[in-house]
Amino acid sequence: MAQASDSIRFILNDREVALSDVAPTDTLLDFLRLERRLTGTKEGCAEGDCGACTVLVGRLTGNSESLVYETVNACIRFVGSLNATHAVTVEHLAASDGTLHPVQQAMIDFHGSQCGFCTPGIVMSLYGLWLTKDNPSRAAIEKALQGNLCRCTGYEPIIRAAEAAAKERPSAVFDPITRTRETVAARLKALRATETIVIGKGEDCLIVPADTAGLATVLAEHPAATIVAGATDVGLWVTKQMRPINPAVFINGIAELQKIESSEAGLTIGAGVSYTAAFEALVAYPTFGALLDRIGGEQVRNMGTIGGNIANGSPIGDSPPPLIALGATVTLRSKDGTRPLPLEDFFIAYGKQDRRPGEFLESIFVPALPAGDRFAAYKVTKRRDEDISALLGAFRISLEGDRVKTARIAFGGMAATPKRAKAVEAALLGQPWTEDTVRSAQTAFETDFQPIDDWRATSAYRMLAAKNLLMRFFLESIGEEAQLQRFEDVA
Ligand SMILES: Cc1cc2nc3c(=O)[nH]c(=O)nc-3n(C[C@H](O)[C@H](O)[C@H](O)COP(=O)(O)OP(=O)(O)OC[C@H]3O[C@@H](n4cnc5c(N)ncnc54)[C@H](O)[C@@H]3O)c2cc1C
Ligand code: FES
Ligand code: FES
Repeated sequence: MAQASDSIRFILNDREVALSDVAPTDTLLDFLRLERRLTGTKEGCAEGDCGACTVLVGRLTGNSESLVYETVNACIRFVGSLNATHAVTVEHLAASDGTLHPVQQAMIDFHGSQCGFCTPGIVMSLYGLWLTKDNPSRAAIEKALQGNLCRCTGYEPIIRAAEAAAKERPSAVFDPITRTRETVAARLKALRATETIVIGKGEDCLIVPADTAGLATVLAEHPAATIVAGATDVGLWVTKQMRPINPAVFINGIAELQKIESSEAGLTIGAGVSYTAAFEALVAYPTFGALLDRIGGEQVRNMGTIGGNIANGSPIGDSPPPLIALGATVTLRSKDGTRPLPLEDFFIAYGKQDRRPGEFLESIFVPALPAGDRFAAYKVTKRRDEDISALLGAFRISLEGDRVKTARIAFGGMAATPKRAKAVEAALLGQPWTEDTVRSAQTAFETDFQPIDDWRATSAYRMLAAKNLLMRFFLESIGEEAQLQRFEDVA
């Protein structure tokens, strides 16, 4: 394998770093705190939930080459994923004379901190927002804070601080990122790997391929390697289960995997596209944008990829059911070429996906929704934000006259894999799209699924909720007036 480099090179605050002694499992959080003594970044949960470890990571986006800064969870971000990025910690915010950044000052002025443990993470989340939005709405502030838990202050003072900080923009030279944006962008361009980086020996190594051809070569040589994209699943294998992941292949820097292409036929989304990057494209499918907004917090959405959500094969991943209902296909690639597959066929059994040795997921194709087709996805959780689905139902139908012409219904959380409700679909096909049809189709869920009891929901709850989601889809599809009429008729 061609080997141009044996070090990970990135910028940390205002210094360039080159590391040639990095283990696949080394996290950014440990590197900051233990090696660099940058202890402003805290460890709360070590699983991406609390936001105490939030830092910003700047990267050049795929083809546009613009430099974006995004909040990430340093606890589950691996050092091996940092090549050609700019990591910014809370220590970088204040001016050299000690003057605090407006975001930090507002947190003091508005009493946004008590014990202070969550504060550096909250400051970094608010700083990420401050950089991108001049006048954020309350909803935008709440979204930016979705992934930050504060156990003692309460969020009102923090939100007031965010509103006040938005108005404080002393000058471009004042802000550390604005001031250095151009030079950092040029530097990151130069740091981009043009050939594969390998650190370590034999199977005990981390590998950073420069492109998809390099990735295919690496996987042909190491078919049992762990592919690491956003690490929002793999990170927890390391921090919670202490699992080795070597050889680890970091793919988050591969520009080809981050493309989104739109045509009349539909969308082609690279497997390495993050939830945040996919939002603008997927929001065209009704309810998909709202669903994405409920995956993790902002940090997880900035790191986590649609490809990772599919490849992990979880029965409760949020993107497979809506993608299956929309008729998505995936493209798998290896050194031998590419292989397209309907997404629903990718999931074989619990923990078993149709991915052959040496293959990786390259892209997902999502067909356009024809005018007149109805589509919706509903996520059922115990709390609105930062929660994993108990179940998730996605529905798509088309009508001919008043009759159901096509129906695709897929669920997560109801079986060992994301799965279509084919008996329910059959019960709807050719029938008039009416409440009576829906009521009789509801019983077909019992043919399709035998859900399990677990701590998220009982089997009975899941079954009832699935049936009710079909009714909800029907009621929403007939519009508000028809619903009111229906309630009057019942009354
Ligand atoms: C706090 C928190 C909240 C979360 N909330 C949700 C939620 O609400 N809903 C939800 O669905 N998920 C949630 N997740 C799980 C996770 O964010 C998603 O599954 C995410 O999409 C995984 O993507 P990733 O890029 O981080 O994958 P990684 O962790 O990098 O990888 C996941 C798996 O996919 C494989 N893989 C990744 N990319 C490829 C590829 N291109 N080809 C082949 N294999 C590949 C990896 O080897 C691994 O097996 C949450 C995670 C955290 C930490
Ligand atoms: S320590 Fe809690 S999200 Fe990282
Ligand atoms: S100030 Fe104590 S946890 Fe937020």
